Amino acid sequence: MTTHPDVLPHDLIPEALYPTLSTLCAVSIDVAGVIARGTLSGALAEQVGENTDGDNQKALDVMADEMFEAALRGGDVRWYGSEEQEDALLLSENGKYALAIDPLDGSSNIDVNVSIGTIFSIFDTKEGAEESFLRPAKEQIAGGYILYGPATCLVVTFGNGTQQYILDPVKGVFVLVEAAMQVPETSKEFAINASNYRHWTKPVRAYIDDCLEGMNGPRGKDFNMRWVGSLVAETHRILTRGGIFLYPGDSRPGYENGRLRMVYECAPIAFVIEQAGGMATNGEVPILDQQATTLHGRIPLVFGSTDKVQRVADHHTLTA
Ligand code: AHG
Ligand code: MN
Ligand code: MN
Ligand code: MN
Repeated sequence: MTTHPDVLPHDLIPEALYPTLSTLCAVSIDVAGVIARGTLSGALAEQVGENTDGDNQKALDVMADEMFEAALRGGDVRWYGSEEQEDALLLSENGKYALAIDPLDGSSNIDVNVSIGTIFSIFDTKEGAEESFLRPAKEQIAGGYILYGPATCLVVTFGNGTQQYILDPVKGVFVLVEAAMQVPETSKEFAINASNYRHWTKPVRAYIDDCLEGMNGPRGKDFNMRWVGSLVAETHRILTRGGIFLYPGDSRPGYENGRLRMVYECAPIAFVIEQAGGMATNGEVPILDQQATTLHGRIPLVFGSTDKVQRVADHHTLTA
């Protein structure tokens, strides 16, 4: 592992995890620098391949993956499971952790200068890769994301609340700005890719239909919709001002379990949301009680303000 200066404060980071978190943050500072230079860094949005999950692979997807892998090699991470690599890699024979990563989340936004991010999940490692990653999401010991937005921020949980750090680009260090984020309970915003309406199941349509009826409908208020196309940006908005995000399963072939991957997207996002007093389900039951059956396995994801997520679950019960 390339050693880095301490780029974040020690206070709320478990000491054993500090080298790995500091390495993730140091690499994210370099990734943020590449992103901030846009096409001056090269053709970051150029399609360079396709990953196991069938996603187009952009140049920045692969670059970010290589940067994180290289920096973590030989350190405290034994198994490295990435969206951009078919199989988990053995990075360190004596590593203590299994780290799953979405190196670059929101790739469709790279060429339009919209916020994108990195998502990570950490388990205590087991001997093999599969047993290390394919286990109940509640066994995570850390989860979070780096958001490359107008400000670069780290949001992370170790199971004792959700912390937010902001990168000071002049000093090159992350500064703690919030020790215990809380998902606001009230909000009038929902996030869903509404172009998939015709593919949704009845309970999801019923929930959205109620929102769309506004003031005169069953919800008795008007709603607003947001859809960024970067899970990290949606998560950060909901952690900051409340709301609900839905990527449900739908009738499109291959989308029975939606589009988001359990191990390196849904599980860590569910962890930070629940540690901030919100709720995260597959539409019906908690994500943290679920486990993936393959490294790139998908699961429907509904998260945000608890009462909204519960209402979606109630719609599933009503139409069961
Ligand atoms: P990734 O770029 O890592 O493959 O993730 C993209 C995901 C997620 O960030 C976002 O919420 C979702 O894809 C958007 O899906 P649609 O393009 O179907 O709206
Ligand atoms: Mn992708
Ligand atoms: Mn992603
Ligand atoms: Mn990705």
